[in-house]
Amino acid sequence: MAAEVLDALKPKPGGRYADGTLGGAGHAASILAASSPTGWLSGCDRDGVAVEAAKKRLAEKFAGRFEIRRGNFSGMAEWIAEKSCDGVTLDLGVSSPQLDSAERGFSFQQDGPLDMRMDDRQKLTAADLVNDLSAEELAKIFWEFGGERESRKFAKAIVRDRAQRKFETTKQLAELIERLAPRHGKKSHPATKVFQALRIAVNDEIGSLKRGLDAAVKILKPGGRLAVITFHSLEDRVVKEFGREKARDYSFSGEVDVPELRQPRAPEMKWVSRKAILPGETELKENPRSRSAQLRVLEKSNQK
Ligand SMILES: C[S@@+](CC[C@H](N)C(=O)[O-])C[C@H]1O[C@@H](n2cnc3c(N)ncnc32)[C@H](O)[C@@H]1O
Repeated sequence: MAAEVLDALKPKPGGRYADGTLGGAGHAASILAASSPTGWLSGCDRDGVAVEAAKKRLAEKFAGRFEIRRGNFSGMAEWIAEKSCDGVTLDLGVSSPQLDSAERGFSFQQDGPLDMRMDDRQKLTAADLVNDLSAEELAKIFWEFGGERESRKFAKAIVRDRAQRKFETTKQLAELIERLAPRHGKKSHPATKVFQALRIAVNDEIGSLKRGLDAAVKILKPGGRLAVITFHSLEDRVVKEFGREKARDYSFSGEVDVPELRQPRAPEMKWVSRKAILPGETELKENPRSRSAQLRVLEKSNQK
């Protein structure tokens, strides 16, 4: 959705932008091209392979106009100056190179180690979760991060199976789920939700997103824009709730919003479009993985 991100951020020469999810630097390159000849981009990714690929790609055309660091976007405000950016973008989830590399362990379609770490400096892997958590803890992950209806059944079977042999590979886990829930002609693989849930848990994706959104507001200039692409409803809900809270013109103390106890305040941000922006027909045809993408855009208030 590079075109939609450009349309949201409207990069201009001299502008300063941040991309917290560089990946293959497709969005970063289009932001730098659109802000030529003097726009600046600060970018990060927690994946070392992505960082190297992004550096190489951007150096070819945009040398001297970017700074790239390896790290979680939740830490962006530690190295990008407060109120310095005209636009910030996050394109959440996994990249195609991550999904397509069997050895990264993200995919149930290829056999590889049960890993799923975006940042391989981290210790915790998917195998650790699958082999060490209780059935209750696993079921909670499958349900909360994957919306998997058979979460308890799958979790119990994992705990039973691992008493004989620890889970080491993606194939081992995918085959167990397939045995428990045969496809019966369904299009999606029965392990889709379990794999998504484990990936979200291993990489603390929801926690990172919440902290990353706060960091993005800090580094945005008044009037600057934040464009976030999500790939599943859990992420989208976090972005929607964040936007709703920032766009409210009142605050309230405590857990519950009681109209009589509201305190008026200037909203910190406003929605640029009420509805999520979806990929166009051409993108859907060219990149079927974009089918669940949704873009939401917020603008920081001028007073803040
Ligand atoms: C969908 S890809 C981004 C693709 C990119 N927009 C492009 O044009 O190529 C998502 C990337 O975000 C990275 N990522 C996900 N969560 C992250 C986080 N919390 N901090 C830093 N990078 C993260 C992943 O490692 C992956 O490389």
